[in-house]
Amino acid sequence: MAKLSVNVDHVATVRQARLSIEPDPVVAAAKAELCGADGITVHLREDRRHIQDRDVYILRKTVKTELNLEMAATKEMLDVALEVKPDMVTIVPEKRQELTTEGGLDVKTHGDALKKYVSHLKDAGIRVNLFIDPSPEAVKSCHRIGSDGVEIHTGAYAGTKGPVRESELKRIYDTAVLSRRLGLKTHAGHGLDYNNILQVASISEIDEFAIGYSIISRALYVGIEDAVREMKRLITAGRGR
Ligand code: PXP
Repeated sequence: MAKLSVNVDHVATVRQARLSIEPDPVVAAAKAELCGADGITVHLREDRRHIQDRDVYILRKTVKTELNLEMAATKEMLDVALEVKPDMVTIVPEKRQELTTEGGLDVKTHGDALKKYVSHLKDAGIRVNLFIDPSPEAVKSCHRIGSDGVEIHTGAYAGTKGPVRESELKRIYDTAVLSRRLGLKTHAGHGLDYNNILQVASISEIDEFAIGYSIISRALYVGIEDAVREMKRLITAGRGR
């Protein structure tokens, strides 16, 4: 069964709106785990717009499942990761002006630098995934530089409807099949919600989904417990299709 890692960044977004101490992503993470989350994801951004260093350090002590730290491939973040030692790091491209992560890494162009970066993390016992657009070429580049896995960007799939969505789904499928064949851990995420998860969850080559915005949004109305349980139910239902 595919796992669900719940991204709690946007609990911190609300907190940072008032530079307050609540709501606390650490509490949200604990509740998500109680309701079936298989992992917790946070993105420590260079501008610290939502998750703060304090969150990452406390989560390392409190998360009982798996802590996935999303971060840019910078020296500052490498130092944080080597100190915190999350179970996993997902390397993402990061731009200051973007609202959220807009595209996958260009692994081919930055292969040499990324290879070195990945090996520092792996030497410290941290698993490393690279966030890529759905492209078999990108998977091959990740395999070449020694990453443990990939996270396939599902944003283009999630942001469209009709035939374009079908072709985006096919790109995700082809990418996941190759990733699995090359022995890489295959994750997917970005823009996934309660309406679009079923189809992508039917791809059995995907090991794990990273989902944040839709779960935290729904949690405002129904509580994080029901929001997580419902997403888990849909992932299970999708796998059975
Ligand atoms: N995966 C990656 C690499 C991301 O950057 C994000 C957004 O932080 C997500 C997954 C989760 O996306 P969403 O919040 O749209 O579910």
